[in-house]
Amino acid sequence: MSSTTGNTIENDNYQTPINAVNALLKKITLRPTDIFLEPCRGDERRIYNRIDLPEDQKLWAEISEGVDYLKTPFKKVDVIITNIPFSLSEEFILKMKSEIKPDGTLIFLQRVNFLGSKKRVTFWNKIGFPQKCPILIPRPKFTKKGTDSCEYCWYIYDFGGRTSEIPPSFSHIISEKTAQTAQTAQTAQKIKELPNSKSNDNFSEVISLGGIYTNGSILDIAQYDELYSELIDF
Ligand SMILES: C[S@@+](CC[C@H](N)C(=O)[O-])C[C@H]1O[C@@H](n2cnc3c(N)ncnc32)[C@H](O)[C@@H]1O
Repeated sequence: MSSTTGNTIENDNYQTPINAVNALLKKITLRPTDIFLEPCRGDERRIYNRIDLPEDQKLWAEISEGVDYLKTPFKKVDVIITNIPFSLSEEFILKMKSEIKPDGTLIFLQRVNFLGSKKRVTFWNKIGFPQKCPILIPRPKFTKKGTDSCEYCWYIYDFGGRTSEIPPSFSHIISEKTAQTAQTAQTAQKIKELPNSKSNDNFSEVISLGGIYTNGSILDIAQYDELYSELIDF
């Protein structure tokens, strides 16, 4: 959502970028017997579908699929990983904490500045601060244009030791996109050096539809952070 205008979409349906999910999941060790819960799995099931456990060990809720998490009791589970609706954050966090086993692992995406504000002092006193807060690099985009100028992190309560690769306290968690962005600068340079004719070169550029949406008609390739290069045969 926009932190500056307060604009939201229905049910806070902002899907988690796949690269941010992948970066997190690479650092988590699930146990074969773990029971997993995604309390608001979203239409595209960004997190739920990437959890490598048998379907009968994966529980879910999603209001758009007729299951309101806040009205549906769940048995205690081993692992919860999610990105919750911002406007219901406190309600979701309290319920998730009550449904995690004593050796469970609870992880949710949230703005870093959710840690602050006068009105949340009582809330944080009640539930305790997360043990780990890896901040997402690059900053995810939850708006159609640019970013919403907030930093985000995974809030991690790891009572079960499934996140030993993530350092305690604050850290950075760097997703694939940063590597792609670095590659973009290299690619832009390479394109600048190309002669006008492509006939004797096998280098091509691909721009994602998302990049075109964000950048409109600007055709300066250096503007595209989702651009990548691939070798093709002419
Ligand atoms: C920020 S989106 C995240 C979706 C998904 N977890 C992801 O990571 O991409 C929040 C989701 O919460 C769902 N939602 C909102 N209120 C809910 C509720 N009371 N119970 C279950 N899901 C809810 C929305 O429909 C939306 O899919």
